Amino acid sequence: MSAPLNSNGHATDSSERLRPLGPEEVSGEARALYDAVVNSPRAQGPGRNILIREDESLCGPFDAWLRSPGIGKIFEKAGMALREETAMDPAVREIAVLTVARAWGINFEFQVHAMVAKMLGVPEAAIEELARGENPAFERDDLAIAYRLATELVQERRVREDTYQAAISTLGEQVTIEVVTHIGFYQLVSGVLTTFDPPDPSVQVPAPALKPKPYAPAIQLFDAASTTRSVRRLREDPVSDEQIERLIRMASYAPSGGNLQPWHIIVVRDEEKKAALGRHYHEIWSHYAASRREMIKDLGDEQKAPLERSLQAGDVLGQNFGKAPVICVFVFNPDLLHITDIDADHPPVVGGASLYPAVQNFLLACRAEGLGSTLTTQLCEVEPEVRKILDIPKPWAPFAFLPVGYPVGRGHGPLNRRAVDQIAYKDSFGESLFASET
Ligand SMILES: Cc1cc2nc3c(=O)[nH]c(=O)nc-3n(C[C@H](O)[C@H](O)[C@H](O)COP(=O)(O)O)c2cc1C
Repeated sequence: MSAPLNSNGHATDSSERLRPLGPEEVSGEARALYDAVVNSPRAQGPGRNILIREDESLCGPFDAWLRSPGIGKIFEKAGMALREETAMDPAVREIAVLTVARAWGINFEFQVHAMVAKMLGVPEAAIEELARGENPAFERDDLAIAYRLATELVQERRVREDTYQAAISTLGEQVTIEVVTHIGFYQLVSGVLTTFDPPDPSVQVPAPALKPKPYAPAIQLFDAASTTRSVRRLREDPVSDEQIERLIRMASYAPSGGNLQPWHIIVVRDEEKKAALGRHYHEIWSHYAASRREMIKDLGDEQKAPLERSLQAGDVLGQNFGKAPVICVFVFNPDLLHITDIDADHPPVVGGASLYPAVQNFLLACRAEGLGSTLTTQLCEVEPEVRKILDIPKPWAPFAFLPVGYPVGRGHGPLNRRAVDQIAYKDSFGESLFASET
């Protein structure tokens, strides 16, 4: 279902985005840049056949930069300056690059620098751990701090205070600045390689390859969680199988009691089935909305307006539920639930705790993909009809219905939620965790 991965670990269906240029095809500033690259120290020794292909075209970011030699020559020089005119220990430098290459999943960049790192005495075990996506343990403090700096910058977009202090005391101010600049430079290189996805070198790089990771869009966790809201107005544009695979993959990461994963998902694209679900949804929603409107009819305008707005959004979904490009129906097997509150004097909720985390993960993945969806449960009221439409055998039963599509308008955005000081208690129920001490 997913597009095949190339050796850079990227899902791609266009193997060659830019046709590599040979030296005879470039002139002027571009030819000067080509010559600067092939005559530079980076293209001498064992790296030469990796940087220059058999047809004499350039690997790495340089082929792309031949098309913009004005900036290409600056970055070629910057790359050389970072190698030749800094006080960075070369192994520190390489650990920083390897960490960036791993984060971006760029195999070519990783292998080239793994080869160099090995020659510089970086332990092979650490390189292999990096290639596998594990956290390496470094004996050398300077390598450990370079790894930490790069990891925090690339993954968290910040540097923790203890990491900063450790960097300054281990590397000194100058080298810390150089390492951070180096990390930034390779983020730039990674962006160029990711965008233009150049073909591999003509020779095999004698270094461990990155363990390929399936593509996943990057979004900071807190950014995603704080903006994932119900998106009820959906465009009819198609949603690809690859995207659906990623949504389901994210859902599958959810925890469940005993790790029994008591749920499956039915991806409904069939127009008739979607329309049948849509008709039921519309009917149930209309009744629900009418009763809600009756309940709120005597409220003052200020209180009523937001409730009415959300009902109107619900009306739009109600009218268009069956037209969503995809409806994902989550089904569960009750025999696999361990319901620890079954005898409590309130309706049991623990069973659902093995089910709905998967739905929330799915919604977060929608957010990351730029897709919108809404967790809906109203169709559970017509379970026998849903069973018939989707051929769901007993004891399986549906528990969530998610229409998925691209949002009309901006879709996700700020949430309306209670402040944390209204929901968190200190030691016992009732006393606010965040109350100021007087
Ligand atoms: C268990 C559950 C069932 C829900 N069912 C529906 C539904 O049937 N239709 C609908 O439009 N929204 C449904 N929602 C979405 C909620 O109305 C929505 O999450 C809530 O109002 C907060 O709005 P927000 O997600 O936009 O921040 C449901 C949410 C949950 C958690």
